[in-house]
Amino acid sequence: MRWAVLVGGTGSNLKALLESGFGVDLVVSHRSGVGALAVAEAAHIPTVVLKGGDFSSRQDYDRALCEVLADAAIERVAMAGFLRWLTPHVVTQYRGRLMNIHPSLLPAFPGLHAIEQAFQAGVMWTGVTIHLVDEGHDTGPILAQCPVPRLLDDTIESLTERIHQAEHRLYPKILSLMDDGDLEYQEGHIDWKGGHTSWAHGHS
Ligand code: GRF
Repeated sequence: MRWAVLVGGTGSNLKALLESGFGVDLVVSHRSGVGALAVAEAAHIPTVVLKGGDFSSRQDYDRALCEVLADAAIERVAMAGFLRWLTPHVVTQYRGRLMNIHPSLLPAFPGLHAIEQAFQAGVMWTGVTIHLVDEGHDTGPILAQCPVPRLLDDTIESLTERIHQAEHRLYPKILSLMDDGDLEYQEGHIDWKGGHTSWAHGHS
């Protein structure tokens, strides 16, 4: 199965995927000069930069994105730090095959700065969610979650660090299940072919 990862940040999730042995065929970034591109280049993965400012509308951007994905014969797409809302043009084309990782237990704290939102709200538990992307904002079907406690002496930095560690464990596991065909989304249903294991929810 050919995978693209959509990025725009430091690339720690991309790095974790590659270190787990997960095969990535293309990396698309919405920003130039980011760490994620350096991670891809170090692993000799083809990269494409599509900057929002180079397109006159979100529709134009997403059409170009679909062309780039089609040219590379991409079958599955994983978002990791790609900070753009995708239009229905992309979502429809890749429905059930387009994943995102979000640093909170959705539906709590959607959108930007989710870790800070949770920290400020004083919750005792937050975590990580992997979900399919739909037309909404962080609203698609949830595939897996991993809870992370907010410890009494946590700072925003220490909580952020533990959330990233959870992301780096969970994303490779879930994407590998999809890659192996053991986890599929069809006609509105999530099909766990190998059974619904506890580790798939983040417990190692
Ligand atoms: C991660 O926290 C992810 O949950 C969010 O963006 C961040 C990307 O980090 N969607 P990185 O670029 O993978 O380090």
